[in-house]
Amino acid sequence: MHTPEGSPLGISTRLAHETRTPFAHHGFVNTPIHRGSTVLFKTLDDLEGAMRADTRRGPYTYGLIGNPNSRELERLCANLDGGAGAVVVESGLAAVSLPLLANLAAGDHALFTDSCYGPTRHLANKILPRMGVTTEFYNPRAGAEITRHFRENTRFVLLESPGSLTFEIQDVPAIASAARARGIVTAIDNTWATPLFMRPIEHGVDLVIHALTKYQSGNSDILLGAVVARDEAHWANLKHHAEAHGHYAHPDDCATCLRGMRSLEVRLKRHEASALEVARWLESRVEVARVLHPALPSHPDHHIWRRDFTGSSGLFGCVLKPQAAGRAHLKGFLESLRYFGMGFSWGGFESLVVSSDLRHSRIAPPWTEESPLLRFQIGLEDPRDMIADLALAFEVAGRVQA
Ligand SMILES: Cc1ncc(COP(=O)(O)O)c(C=O)c1O
Repeated sequence: MHTPEGSPLGISTRLAHETRTPFAHHGFVNTPIHRGSTVLFKTLDDLEGAMRADTRRGPYTYGLIGNPNSRELERLCANLDGGAGAVVVESGLAAVSLPLLANLAAGDHALFTDSCYGPTRHLANKILPRMGVTTEFYNPRAGAEITRHFRENTRFVLLESPGSLTFEIQDVPAIASAARARGIVTAIDNTWATPLFMRPIEHGVDLVIHALTKYQSGNSDILLGAVVARDEAHWANLKHHAEAHGHYAHPDDCATCLRGMRSLEVRLKRHEASALEVARWLESRVEVARVLHPALPSHPDHHIWRRDFTGSSGLFGCVLKPQAAGRAHLKGFLESLRYFGMGFSWGGFESLVVSSDLRHSRIAPPWTEESPLLRFQIGLEDPRDMIADLALAFEVAGRVQA
């Protein structure tokens, strides 16, 4: 879709209008949900033609291969990222494993940012080695120095920027161009930024991974993932493997996600503003040693964030000072929060917090903070209420320790 002058439409207009075809559905604004496995053909020619057709545009063939809802969501994801095509799958984690399994084979070497999501780390540590793939973690801040890790058989580099627990920002263009020069495939988990705040394909990355479970869906009520491919060859390879492995995205979930995406921009802006307000307040607290938020000038990678991103979302971390981080203090703090839920995932309308100790997992470089790391997801509530909630919890925790 373009303006009458031929320039691309703004992202908010695309979120509202792109991919919808009301008059193909009796004028209903949203595409009705098409549940189904079997698709019927009137003639043998139709059946054979459909089997040869492009699965992004041609006739439908079978529920596993696509339905009007999954296809609409794939078109919107590809459009927002500027890719040749997308594949939607049943979870964000499936969107991580698909490009790995589609591109790696026994004898290959693959590089993973040490800041990657925990289950991605598990794939690197446990699943891929069983298949004969050698894996290695690299410092997320390696930038162009990534070449030091390249071997003759390096085939894949996985990025995640910022790391969704520790918030290092990677030099994506430097890593992507070093990899491209050696014919190495790059994939980035872009769940934190979404295509609204960072478009990795424009920075040279081949494959963009999204846990649509988070901001795109926005309501903590479904799981879904997508991989967007830079070019036709990467898209065809992904689609082939998604079919071969039986990946699937349920039409109900695709429709729910599309509903969330129509309001993605306004929600993200609210997440961004509220998270910055809470993060700045945390920086002023005596209990806090460091706030890990890339959009704050105090963040060591702030300059890269400013160069490559157009905004920040609602997820950030902080490290407590040792005197505020004992088990009893932490328990007192977390259990007296009234509006922050304690739980995993993020991107929904509600605020969340989790604590983690990374000393046993991070290796490049090793994580040396003795205090646990707190990760906050700031939801769509009034940020003043969330700050008041945190202030009260610090007060209660302070009394526990005294
Ligand atoms: C950065 C990141 N990538 C991928 C995922 C996986 O998404 P899902 O929960 O939909 O499998 C998560 C989930 O927390 C995540 O934080």
